[in-house]
Order: sequence, then structure tokens, then C-alpha cells
Amino acid sequence: MSLFLPRSVKIRAGDHGMWRDCNISLENTRLIYSRGENRRNFIDINDKTVIQEVKFGKFDGIMILDNDIPYYLVSERDDTREILYNALIKLPEAQNEVCFEDFELLSIIGEGFYGNVYLASKKETGNKYALKVIQKSRLLEQGRAQMAYLERNVLISLHHPFIVTLEFSFQTQSCLVFGLEYVSGGDLFRHVHNHEKMKLSHIKFYIAEIACALHYLHSKHIIYRDLKLENVLIDRDGHIKLTDFGLSKWILSTTTTTFCGTTEYLSPEIISSSEYGQEVDWWSLGIMIYEIVFRKTPFYDKNRNTIFKNIRTRAPFFPKRTNPQLVDLIMGLLNKNHENRYGYEQIVNHSFMAGIEWNEVVSKKLKPPIVPSKPELRKRSVSCDIDSPEMQGFDFEGFTFNAN
Ligand SMILES: Nc1ncnc2c1ncn2[C@@H]1O[C@H](COP(=O)(O)OP(=O)(O)O)[C@@H](O)[C@H]1O
Ligand SMILES: [Mg+2]
Repeated sequence: MSLFLPRSVKIRAGDHGMWRDCNISLENTRLIYSRGENRRNFIDINDKTVIQEVKFGKFDGIMILDNDIPYYLVSERDDTREILYNALIKLPEAQNEVCFEDFELLSIIGEGFYGNVYLASKKETGNKYALKVIQKSRLLEQGRAQMAYLERNVLISLHHPFIVTLEFSFQTQSCLVFGLEYVSGGDLFRHVHNHEKMKLSHIKFYIAEIACALHYLHSKHIIYRDLKLENVLIDRDGHIKLTDFGLSKWILSTTTTTFCGTTEYLSPEIISSSEYGQEVDWWSLGIMIYEIVFRKTPFYDKNRNTIFKNIRTRAPFFPKRTNPQLVDLIMGLLNKNHENRYGYEQIVNHSFMAGIEWNEVVSKKLKPPIVPSKPELRKRSVSCDIDSPEMQGFDFEGFTFNAN
């Protein structure tokens, strides 16, 4: 592949560099950017390089994430950016592509709007994976093709003990498949609603690990936008793993405006279609803590519009004897004014969280309150017609990935 785009692109290396006008050319799998003969720099694109369309305020651009170093490219010309993006995502051919035939499907572990999540065993190794299968037709009907790329790219770019790992991705005619590490302890929703009330010290553990994961995401300029009990998984030792990055995205200007999320967890600024930023995740954490403690969300109503109204106008109800420090923490996270809302720093320094050694959280030194019992694995294979061959495929170029 070769391509030459003279003087039409601005490029910035890293988060704090300067924008520079460059000539861009592609030679095989190398992107060369230069400002005159003697100043040639390059980025080698391989199948682990994330190539993502992003917005800088009003400007559209491309982010290239290479070993955690971001490069940003913008062009005033839409056609230039499109030519470059289309060329870039075609470059890396995944090595060792995997396919459905490599797996035995053991059970369905999650059902979602776009498809199911299956527990699968790789025939060759016996290793277990969670295969999140998304029907292309569903995605295209909803005009959400970009969502799949975002989920893939966000997952590839994250490396954190409390965030699920994407091992590979592939596509067939009719579906996209995310091969995730299998997290065997179930999700927090099940633990909260099927077990007795959680002790405050146990709740502290989950707040600490989740806050740590959110803080990491935000440091990478990613907002999660779908924090809720169902998306917090428990691993076999009892530590958490966030899953489901279908709604997350990079925000490189400080705000965005898309209306999305799960109704009961939406923040007031999303509902009022204002610009919003990472504070929405801290709001959702407030809702989640409330749900862990009281087993219902604070603004719930049968009617969706009433939920919206409650979120915007009502204060959450706390029974008389609720621990006042816990009330303060939840109220701080559920501050309707996002500018004054608690965030990571306030959680770290909050009296309710006293006793947490914050620098030990990420190295999994806190003792998990629930250690899940070993899951019973049914040996029976699931028969499924996930891949209906009659469905004419739309090729999601550049979707395939393999971490190995
Ligand atoms: N890596 C995983 N390991 C184990 N279970 C998972 C994994 N990923 C998802 N699940 C289960 O599948 C459910 C749906 O997956 P999710 O990614 O949240 O899909 P959706 O976008 O449809 O909500 C989750 O709530 C969880 O119970
Ligand atoms: Mg989910």
C-alpha cells in the first residue's frame, strides 16, 4: 500500500505535544510523517495498533495508539481524513485469525440487545473464553456500526487488572465476535440481589476497586458511560472486572453530548442533553452504591419519564439509621451539579473509605469479601444457529484482532 497526502494533515504526538503540519505517506505498513526532507518520523502499524476516529471539539480526527503512545491526526478536509482512515484500517492483517470452528460452545452466560455472550472452550487448548456475539444486522439497523469498532478499540487499548481483557476478535458473514477472558464469578447484580445485605466493609471493597478502574479509564481519556451492577463481574478470587465497553468512548475535548446509557443510571446532565464529561461515571457509581445498599436504585419508577424527572429534581431517600458517612459519599456522587460532584480524589479522601490503602488496591491487596464458589460447568454443548449463512454480510474492515 502506498499513499501520499502532502501538507494537508496536522499531527500531534502524545497528549501534550504541539500540532504540526505534515506530509503524510504510507509505505507498506509504515506511516511516515515529515516536515521537509530531514525531519521524517514514522509509526509502524501492526494488528495491535488501534486506529480510531475521534473528535477534538468540533474537529474530526484520527487517533493512532501505538504501544500506549497516542498520535492524533486532523485535517480540515473531510475527504483527506477519510482516505487516510480507510487506508489505515486496511493495513494490519491479523495473524492467527480464529473462527467459530475453533470452539465448543458450552452455555449462554449473558443475553443482550445485540446478541448473546457464550461460554466457550477452545478445542485445541481447552481454555475458556466468553464470546460476545453481536448480530451485524442488529447493529446496522440501529446505525451503530461504529460502536463495534469503539468497543474493540477501547478494549485493545486497556490494560488493567480490573478491566476485562480482549483476547481476540473476528467476524463471520452475520456476526462480530469479541473473545474475552472468561470471568467466572458472575456479575455483581446477581451477588447483590440474591444474597443477604452486604456489610459496609464489603461495600468499601467494591467502591475502592471500581473507583480505581474508573480513574484509570479517565486517565486514558475514556468515559465508560455504562457503569451498573450487571457490568461489574467478579473473578474467581473475588476481585472485580469491568466488562461491556459498548458505550464507552474517547473524549479528547472535555465534553460530549450523546444521549446514551441505562435509564436508572443516567446523570442529570445527560438527560438535559447538556455537554458532559467523565463526571457521568461518578454519578453512576453513586447510583450503584445506593443499589448495593438498598437493593433498588434511588430514582426508580415504572414510568421512564418519571425516572428522568426524579433524577433531575428529587433527592434520594435514605432511611433514618443509614450511616451518615455513607450518605455523604452517595450524596456527593449524586450531586446534580457535575462541577461539584465527587470524583476520584474525594472518594480517596472520604471518611467512609478510611482504612483503605489506596496504593495497594490496584495490586489486588484488598481482601475480597465474596469468593465465588466454583461454577458448575455443564458439559453439554449449546446448539446454536448464531451464524446464519443466508444473511448477506457487510465486511467490518479491520475488526479482526488477536492478542497472541
Ligand atoms: N468476560 C466475561 N466473562 C463472564 N461473563 C461475561 C463476560 N462478559 C459478559 N459477561 C456476561 O454477559 C452479560 C452481557 O454482556 P455485556 O458485555 O454486558 O453485553 P451487553 O452489551 O449486551 O450488555 C454480562 O452482564 C455478564 O453477565
Ligand atoms: Mg451489559
